[in-house]
Amino acid sequence: MKGFLITLEGIDGSGKTTQANLLYEYLRSKGHKASLYRDPGSTPLAEKIRELIMSFSLDPITELLLFETARSSLVWEKILPDLQKGNVVIVDRFIDSTVAYQGYGREINLGTVNVLNHIATRGRKPDLTFILHVPLEVALSRIGKDKTKFEDKDFLRKVRDAYFLIQSSEKERQIYLIDANREKEEVFKEIVKIVESRL
Ligand SMILES: Nc1ncnc2c1ncn2[C@@H]1O[C@H](COP(=O)(O)OP(=O)(O)O)[C@@H](O)[C@H]1O
Ligand SMILES: [Mg+2]
Repeated sequence: MKGFLITLEGIDGSGKTTQANLLYEYLRSKGHKASLYRDPGSTPLAEKIRELIMSFSLDPITELLLFETARSSLVWEKILPDLQKGNVVIVDRFIDSTVAYQGYGREINLGTVNVLNHIATRGRKPDLTFILHVPLEVALSRIGKDKTKFEDKDFLRKVRDAYFLIQSSEKERQIYLIDANREKEEVFKEIVKIVESRL
């Protein structure tokens, strides 16, 4: 398979965006062709959908379909072409977020979520996934006032547990659970070590 797809997962405040940026800069500095995207987002359509998701109170299925539409746009317009070019593609959130938030969190049938993930991604699974783990209190204090509709504590607990389940059940994938309740540099060192060993 061409290219290398790395996804960063975890609840808000776990440090995904911070680590994604560090990894992107690092890979570029080492001479790799790298891309950095966020899901939902990173195409004009997907960024609009992201705004819609955040600004409306939506029923679970409508929300799921919007996430998957945004993902489809990102996969088709950016991720697949970049992988075809041989790039290392880093995505800030991806399919596991939908399983955790919409599947376990909003209690949508997991089969439904998996089918839609498969359709939106054209079946392309991540080659490497990092789940950044921090205690809920740490995540919430890092986020401060910038809470979205997803940041209710009981909901986040379900999502956090879902990520553990994903990590322990998807044995055919490379999923690493990272203790992200450490200095940014410490967390990054561990991520880089794993990435280097896989590239
Ligand atoms: N390891 C860390 N220790 C302390 N603060 C951090 C750490 N990683 C990120 N942060 C801070 O926490 C906030 C959320 O980080 P961010 O990378 O945006 O997380 P996410 O993308 O998972 O929501 C930011 O203000 C960021 O600077
Ligand atoms: Mg982020």
